[in-house]
Amino acid sequence: MDYPTVRMRRLRKNSNIRDIVRETKLNKEDLIYPIYFKEGLKKGEKEEISTMPGQFRYSIEDGVEYAKELESKGLRSIIVFGIPLEETKDPVGSPAFMEEGIVQTAIRALKKETNLVIIGDVCLCQYTSHGHCGLIHEYDKGDINDNTDDGVKILNDPSLKYLAKTAVSQAKAGADIVAPSDMMDGRVEAIRNALDEECYEDVMIMSYSAKFASSFYAPFRDAADSAPGKGNRKSYQMDPANGREAIRECELDVVEGADMLMVKPALPYLDIIKTVKEDFNLPLVSYNVSGEYSMIMAAIDKGYLTEDSIMESLLSIKRAGADLIITYFAPYLLDHL
Ligand code: PBG
Repeated sequence: MDYPTVRMRRLRKNSNIRDIVRETKLNKEDLIYPIYFKEGLKKGEKEEISTMPGQFRYSIEDGVEYAKELESKGLRSIIVFGIPLEETKDPVGSPAFMEEGIVQTAIRALKKETNLVIIGDVCLCQYTSHGHCGLIHEYDKGDINDNTDDGVKILNDPSLKYLAKTAVSQAKAGADIVAPSDMMDGRVEAIRNALDEECYEDVMIMSYSAKFASSFYAPFRDAADSAPGKGNRKSYQMDPANGREAIRECELDVVEGADMLMVKPALPYLDIIKTVKEDFNLPLVSYNVSGEYSMIMAAIDKGYLTEDSIMESLLSIKRAGADLIITYFAPYLLDHL
């Protein structure tokens, strides 16, 4: 059977019909809002992030207030990022795992004042003096053992201990989920073991499994002051060209004990989201990153696009297979869903 018996447009006749045949729906509970807490800010001192219009760095009080407002509109989960005082940063990222660290303090406050599912981003880059996600060794010029691009080697195994300490400190503060975003090999296993040893066997691991070395993180690095001083992240984050390698990363994370997988960024990697969804049975998260937000916001500001582009792009991430979406558009979507 084909045209004129078959007429696809019957299914699009009016909004009532379109509503009942719609295949993909975004729900408020699909959204995870990324929030930045900055150490040293006092109540009322939120700072707008210049590269991410409408997004702010918050003091503890203001961030918690904002989280409560979003919760009242239907938000269910939040991922917490911290920006420590510049002078506390050191080569191992100590402010990432201090009991009184900015993330730990924010998590405790959120836990006390809201019912949100609280996720801690576990990484060292905002906290290390050199801005890398793990510990580093810098080679002297001309060292014959140097086979790096730029003289900076990121030390995998020595970093695991500090990432695990960070995860445990967040669990202690009340995080429901820890989300390692560093891309060191073996970190999911190291974190799972450390959590279990401290009796946090119920705390989940949302692994940034397939995290690509993306230029779309640029506004985040400005927001969180976490750009590497020397070198880049290409020796630990994935090559944007590699889809099959993303599957290997996910396989390893499953074996190491991840509870949820993540693909990041989202829009330029919809094919990866679709494949991971088909191949694995874990909840799948995708991170609609800072550059994806800023790109659309800039186009709307210029009048090149309308606000409808927000819903359409988020819907495409869900349609590709994401169960949960980390997005700076969460506040907008809570008002429009
Ligand atoms: C830290 C981290 C980054 C993001 C989340 N965690 C930046 C990076 O890897 O350089 C990016 C988030 C965003 O762009 O919104 N490792």
